Amino acid sequence: MKILGIETSCDETSAAVIEDGRNILSNVIASQTDVHKRFGGVVPEVASRMHVELIMPTIQEALDKAESTLENIDAIAVINRPGLIGALIVGVAAAKTMAFAANLPLIAIHHIEGHIYANWLVNPDIQFPVVCLVVSGGHSDLIYMSGHGKYEILARTRDDAAGEAFDKSARVMGLSYPGGPQIDKLAKEGNPHAVHFPRAKMGDSLDFSFSGLKTAVIRYMEGIEAKPPLPDLAASFQQAVVDVLVENTFRAAQERGVKQVLMAGGVAANSGLQSAMKARGQELGIAVSAPPPILCTDNAAMAAAAAYFAYERGETSGLDLDSFASEPIGKRAS
Ligand code: KG4
Ligand code: ZN
Repeated sequence: MKILGIETSCDETSAAVIEDGRNILSNVIASQTDVHKRFGGVVPEVASRMHVELIMPTIQEALDKAESTLENIDAIAVINRPGLIGALIVGVAAAKTMAFAANLPLIAIHHIEGHIYANWLVNPDIQFPVVCLVVSGGHSDLIYMSGHGKYEILARTRDDAAGEAFDKSARVMGLSYPGGPQIDKLAKEGNPHAVHFPRAKMGDSLDFSFSGLKTAVIRYMEGIEAKPPLPDLAASFQQAVVDVLVENTFRAAQERGVKQVLMAGGVAANSGLQSAMKARGQELGIAVSAPPPILCTDNAAMAAAAAYFAYERGETSGLDLDSFASEPIGKRAS
C-alpha cells in the first residue's frame, strides 16, 4: 500500500511516499529555516505564505522521486493537528483536494503520533508496550503506548519544551535559529561539567520543567563573571537537559515495566541525548530506538508511516476534516 504523506504544521513543507508503512520511496522536505532565521524564530504568517508557494511543487517532487502518480497512490495522509493553524490549513486543503480528485481515502494524523511513528520507518522489531520520549520545539512528553494508536500521557512539560530551551538558550549564547543543532555541534568540543546548571525535579511527578534552566543560562550570560568558552557552556547546558530527559524516561519505563523506549521529535536528533539514552538503556536492559536526525525533525514520511497503521484501524476522515492549533494526542480527528 502506497501512502502520500503531507506535513505543513510549522516551518517545513514536506511530502513523502511510503510503501506499507515502512519503505521510504521519497521524503521531500522544503525547509523555510533560512527565511525565519532573520527573525530569530518562526513567523506564522510568513510560514503560511511560504507553504502556499511550496506545497504543490513539493508534492510533485515527492511523487516524481517515488516514480508514482496519484493513480498508483492508495491513500493520502496529512498532519492536521496541532501546529500553526494557518500553516496546517495549507497541507489539509491540498490533501483534501487530492483525495477528492483521485477518490482516495484521507487519513488525519496528530503531529506527535507522526513523530513517534518515525521509529517504525527504521525499526521493524518494536514490541509493545513502549514508553516514548517526545521532545520537540513545542512538546516534551512521556507517552505510554500499549498498542498501535493507544496513547497514555505520563508526563509533559510544565513550561518550556526542551527544543524551546535549546533555541532560547542558543539565542542568548549568540547562536542563530534553530539553536538545537548548533548547541549539539558545539557541545561535542566542550566540557559538560564546566558550569553547573539546574536540573528541575517535580517531586514524584515525571513532568519536566525547563524555564528555570533557560533563565539560569540568561542570568549566566548577562552576569559579570568571566565566561568559559562557548563549547563548554553549550556542553554544560546540553548535559543539564539530557540528564533530566534520561532520568525521567527510564523512571517511567521501569515504573511501567516496559522493555522498549522510543525517542521522537527534533530534540531526539541530539547526539548527546541519543548516546546517553542508549547507554542507560544498555545498563538497564531496555532497548532504545531513535530515528536518524532527518526523521526526528519535521517530515512527511512520519505522517505516512503513522497513517498506514491508522488506516488498518479504519481511521479515515471525511472531506470536512478540519485543522486544530492544539489537540491532545489520542483524540480522534473528525
Ligand atoms: O520536531 P521539530 O522539527 O519541530 C517541532 O515539532 O517543534 O523540532 C524542532 C526543535 C527545535 O527546537 C530544534 O532546535 C530542535 O528540535 N533540534 C535539536 C536538534 N535538532 C533539532 N535540538 C537539539 N539537538 C539537535 N541536534
Ligand atoms: Zn515536530
